Amino acid sequence: MDSQLDHVRRVQPGLLRLPGTPRLAGPRHRGRTRPCRRRPLQRHVVPAAREGAVPECLTLCRNRVDLWLAQTSRVRALGLLDRCGLLLSAEELAREARFRFQEDRDSFRVTRALLRCVLSRYAAKAETSWRFESDANGRPRLADADAFSGELDFSISHTRDFTLVAIGLGRRVGVDIERADRQVRESVRWACLDADERTACALLHEDTQPRRFIETWTLKESYLKALGCGLSRPMDSFGFRFIDDAGIALCDPCADATSAATWAFSMFDLPQAHVGSVCIEDGSAVDLVLHRMEPLATDVEMALQIIRGSATQ
Ligand SMILES: CC(C)(COP(=O)(O)OP(=O)(O)OC[C@H]1O[C@@H](n2cnc3c(N)ncnc32)[C@H](O)[C@@H]1OP(=O)(O)O)[C@@H](O)C(=O)NCCC(=O)NCCS
Repeated sequence: MDSQLDHVRRVQPGLLRLPGTPRLAGPRHRGRTRPCRRRPLQRHVVPAAREGAVPECLTLCRNRVDLWLAQTSRVRALGLLDRCGLLLSAEELAREARFRFQEDRDSFRVTRALLRCVLSRYAAKAETSWRFESDANGRPRLADADAFSGELDFSISHTRDFTLVAIGLGRRVGVDIERADRQVRESVRWACLDADERTACALLHEDTQPRRFIETWTLKESYLKALGCGLSRPMDSFGFRFIDDAGIALCDPCADATSAATWAFSMFDLPQAHVGSVCIEDGSAVDLVLHRMEPLATDVEMALQIIRGSATQ
């Protein structure tokens, strides 16, 4: 995976700014809208003399969606969990404490820390100062309507060991990550698919059907998260058509032709046999960039292995 590194930034472990403390370096880039130019893949390590400096803010672009991946076991192995805990609000810590298993508490903590650290990569604001709220369906959003001029949208997904966050500007995004070999009961699988998906799945060799289901599932979840309706919308009320080797088309009888055409999808491979999908509003000409982050330590841009993309992408 290291050969795919494009960009490496290191922040001194333990560096934690207090609420309201501005970043020491880096311009403010709040909701910039100029097009981003892709950089060639290369490895860049901040010189040792500059280690500990707060990295420059990333620029948010309308024509780019950033995906951020964190691995809980890696954060744990690096001894960063305690410091991640310092970033959480009292309400988040109370929520964390309600999980029965340590693994789930750690995963929750890493997700919250990742989201906070990612947001602070785009704005001169301390990780601890972000506030969140959810709408009636549970869709999370920033509580501070002025941040990023109210244009930043994000979506979260986690498996036991990974958290994936999508960040978009001026467009809704939805993201999902699953283990590609996750075992799901056959009856559940068939119940989540619409009639055409069931037919297409039944035509596949039975060894490949579980993987096809997981891929379809990530697409469905990404769409529902972008729409914000969660599971209030039955999974079999819409579907995806897998076209040739690399295409995807959404088929949603509840969306009119125009609104169905505004959603773009990408499905991609992720480390350790995980698969992810992202749904992007008006996403036909949007770049996708994948980063890996160890909150409060390192972030790295990685090559993204797209498996399929929607016809408009
Ligand atoms: C909540 C839901 C949107 C995703 O749930 P999920 O796949 O279990 O979990 P994920 O990790 O992918 O996503 C959870 C995140 O979705 C976000 N979310 C919750 N409700 C949401 C909504 N209405 N719209 C957008 N995002 C939402 C939250 O950020 C949540 O993470 P957080 O609680 O840490 O903030 C919903 O589809 C759900 O409950 N799914 C059940 C999954 C299931 O039954 N799977 C079995 C077959 S494989």
